[in-house]
Amino acid sequence: MQIDIVSVFPEYFDVTGLSLLGKAQEKGLVTIRAHNLRDWTHDVHHSVDDTPVGGGAGMVMKPEVWGRCLDDLLNVTDGSALQQPTTDQTADTADAEERKEARKSSGDESYGIASEADSSADNHEAGAAKQVLIFPNPSAPLFTQADATELSRAKRLVFGCGRYEGYDARIPVYYRNQGVDVREYSIGDYVLNGGEVAVSVMLEAITRLLPGFMGNPESIVQESYTGDEPLLEYRQYTRPTTWRGMAVPEILTSGDHGKVDRFRRDEAIRRTSRIRPDLIARLDCSALDKQDRRL
Ligand code: ADE
Repeated sequence: MQIDIVSVFPEYFDVTGLSLLGKAQEKGLVTIRAHNLRDWTHDVHHSVDDTPVGGGAGMVMKPEVWGRCLDDLLNVTDGSALQQPTTDQTADTADAEERKEARKSSGDESYGIASEADSSADNHEAGAAKQVLIFPNPSAPLFTQADATELSRAKRLVFGCGRYEGYDARIPVYYRNQGVDVREYSIGDYVLNGGEVAVSVMLEAITRLLPGFMGNPESIVQESYTGDEPLLEYRQYTRPTTWRGMAVPEILTSGDHGKVDRFRRDEAIRRTSRIRPDLIARLDCSALDKQDRRL
């Protein structure tokens, strides 16, 4: 996978050379390049923003600078639009909704994308031809584990980090009209100073799903939000079995794997009901066993 990140603070991404992501780059699983948006400015001040049309506080990132930058990175030639340009602002949300609906009705396969539990290299190839342009945006649909899974199958990702009051709304619309798969995502219901931290979050959630990234791929399959049943994970313990007077649940030391599995599943369902009732409401009840329903 090749990842390009555009930011006015490309140094933010120096840390991608560390830890597991650094190792993944050494192994050749992923290449990450951070670019400075100001390299595409033409004025002496290297300005990337301007005041909002219609008035209001703050500054908005200019479309011309982003346009030059993204034309270069995405190899888009001006005027090569695949469909009639439109600045219809409903187009972007409609696109996201369409993808969501398609996922709901027929699973991720509708995009040539394998299911989440299946993380083998072969199945990863299924969605590999794709190049996706991603903008973090606090006013966009929430980024989920399903999005991370889908995007981990792309061949190339280009992230654009907004700053100030955001970027000119015509930028994603233009590239969508050029036939580029453009996504806008929020990472949570709070506002950050810019897109860099949000991109770091998405980057980590996506790249850790690349085949060969994790020493033990099983650890991904067992995680919260993964698979058809997005339950929070059960609590984990290690030795000593008693610490400061607190013993681990006895059943975990019983050696009875069936009982341990049942105990963990009960705990996952109970914790999810208490902490994230919204996830329980989305569960497919027909997939629950008799014991689950008792809870
Ligand atoms: N930029 C600022 N806040 C953000 C958020 N919550 N998610 C994505 N991008 C952002």
